[in-house]
Amino acid sequence: MPRPRVFVARQLPQIALDLLAAECDLDVWPDRLPPSAEELRKRVAGCTGLISILTDKVDAALLDAAPTLKVVSNFAVGVNNVDLAACTARKIPVGNTPGVLTDATADIAVTLLLAAARRLGESSTDAKEGRWITWEPTGWLGCDLVGRTVGIVGMGRIGFATARRLHHGWGMKVLYTARTPKPEAEEQLKAERLELNELLDRSDFVSVHADLNPSTKGMFGAEQFARMKRTAVFVNTARGPHVDQSALAQALRTGQIFAAGLDVTDPEPLPPTHELFGLPNCVIAPHIASATTDTRNAMARLCAGNLLAGVRGERLPHCVNSEVYGG
Ligand code: GLV
Repeated sequence: MPRPRVFVARQLPQIALDLLAAECDLDVWPDRLPPSAEELRKRVAGCTGLISILTDKVDAALLDAAPTLKVVSNFAVGVNNVDLAACTARKIPVGNTPGVLTDATADIAVTLLLAAARRLGESSTDAKEGRWITWEPTGWLGCDLVGRTVGIVGMGRIGFATARRLHHGWGMKVLYTARTPKPEAEEQLKAERLELNELLDRSDFVSVHADLNPSTKGMFGAEQFARMKRTAVFVNTARGPHVDQSALAQALRTGQIFAAGLDVTDPEPLPPTHELFGLPNCVIAPHIASATTDTRNAMARLCAGNLLAGVRGERLPHCVNSEVYGG
């Protein structure tokens, strides 16, 4: 039997390539930058499996160009780059990498929250550029965390892990939004479920962990920032398009909120000339939440496991459109 052909849309941690190469013939995209849509279509045509990255758009046009495709394995927990309905319509299971990046992502959410609250980006730039002239009693004053309130927007695994760190580490009161109540958060963290507006009114820190879908796209705009406290810190480690960035820049510039910490932007990369980079109260990281060696290796194993199950015709261990299996 010929070995299945698999297109791997970027260099992955070696562990994934080794697992895949044991059973499949691999075509690994060699560049740092993603293939164009046209190149992706050409490469995937004739393949049984595709490993995609969150910068690769997996849409109906791509699937139509690859009638032999049996599985899409996304190297990410978020799957907003994949048209799930189009995959489901063609009975193609889509895999993701949940769980293994929860802690690394929650760590970055807390890192950004602290960096923004304590003006780390601004003060460190000032120090490097010669503006650290002496120790000043009123210099670089930030906000405390202890005993304050955090609003978690989207209490899934990552929201919970972030809330757990802030509740147990700093004694923070936890408010949250979610489609359904989360008994674990209510019992272990004494968290309180609210509508978004009330959460924004009451929170000192707001951290976004919701999935990106049509109902959450643009959920943070001028109206939401206007509701937040003038001392509030806004953190986004979910997806850039949750936020209207002009409204955020305006809120940061005018002091409507105190600071923001972002690991995700729209677009990515955010051009260095973007107004958010010019604001001293905005800390921006280049989408590094899952970037630890152990986490990326764990993602690589899950991603390879999903792909191999798909090409063998087995159920994917982590499938986001399990409707393809019926029942
Ligand atoms: C990263 O952003 C992911 O969704 O895994």
